[in-house]
Amino acid sequence: MKPREIADGVFWVGALDWEEKDFHNFQTPRGITYNSYLILDEKKVVIDAVKHKFFSEQLEKISKLIDPKEIDYVVVNHIEPDHASGLADLIRVAKNATVICSQKGKEGLFKFFDCKDWNFMVVKNGDKLRIGKRTLMFLDMTMLHWPDSIATYLVEDKILFSNDAFGQHVASEERFAEDLGLEEALKWAKLYYANILMPLSTLIKKKLEELKGVEVKLIAPSHGVAWKNPEVIVKSYAKWADFEPDNKVVIVYDTMWGSTEKLARTIAEGASTYAKVRLFHIRKDSWAEIVAEILDAKAIAVGAPTIHNSLFPPVSGFLSYLRSLKPKNKKALAFGSYGWNGVAVKEIAKVLEELGFETKQFAVKFKPTKEELEKAFELGVELGK
Ligand code: FEO
Repeated sequence: MKPREIADGVFWVGALDWEEKDFHNFQTPRGITYNSYLILDEKKVVIDAVKHKFFSEQLEKISKLIDPKEIDYVVVNHIEPDHASGLADLIRVAKNATVICSQKGKEGLFKFFDCKDWNFMVVKNGDKLRIGKRTLMFLDMTMLHWPDSIATYLVEDKILFSNDAFGQHVASEERFAEDLGLEEALKWAKLYYANILMPLSTLIKKKLEELKGVEVKLIAPSHGVAWKNPEVIVKSYAKWADFEPDNKVVIVYDTMWGSTEKLARTIAEGASTYAKVRLFHIRKDSWAEIVAEILDAKAIAVGAPTIHNSLFPPVSGFLSYLRSLKPKNKKALAFGSYGWNGVAVKEIAKVLEELGFETKQFAVKFKPTKEELEKAFELGVELGK
């Protein structure tokens, strides 16, 4: 079967990784896609390689359309191994190809591969390349997702090959969000944003402003499905980059003998009188999902018991992850239980305050009394308000 043509003369030659359930500790229950595209014009252009394990799949798809020796250009929008680890094998068969990338991309490729014999074309923001009837334009996407990142714009067709930006970790036979279902595509896009791009939100806001000057009819990212209605995902990115909140409280906790759990449930009950509530157990729920809910929450509460005069380790690990993602604009509550030293709540509060959240603290000894549960309920009501 011929590879799928996503636009006139533009073919999907990527790979579906149905089995991969983890990307840097980001749980991917529906797998991962490594998108690559072949543009057939007077020049033959491959946009992005794939993860090394899937190189033979990419080559098989390309070979159904052309002899790989005919490839003139391989654009490396981004050197992270999920896209570029199959590059050396591709260049081995695409003997005449020139690799197009940013200066930082070229420097990085020399660290990953022995590429002294490769032909390179280093591009800067706005550079153009005529490939026959059509033109490629290269856009700087620094830190989206690494310093080397660029995007490639097919000028006449108005297709933006955005690489990581606007992507989703989901494997599907559908190639377009509109076929997968917009609601589902946005769910995976939000998980991707929260777990990969959230700390880059300030940069993303600037980049969205710059992209307003580029008319785009199709966004074709390197992960997941492409967007035939780009405004849907661009609008969502603007909301997420602004940390525009939903009327929602997210409560996350872990527990040893049920006291912190009792507090968590009581806080949730209180909060639910004014807001939507999401309650998560740190060892039993997916961290990827938790941080996606935190992205657009107005308030969060984090709870843990104290153990060995320290914060309960799973909560410590989760807070370390949360800190790295730099969520913004939230009210917070640190809560928990202790036996003889209430270290945990203070340590949770320290992290939440470092993130810039106005934070209250609530700790109980051994087991919450009736009065303490009433207090927890009231704290929940305050968060909900
Ligand atoms: Fe999909 Fe930053 O790699």
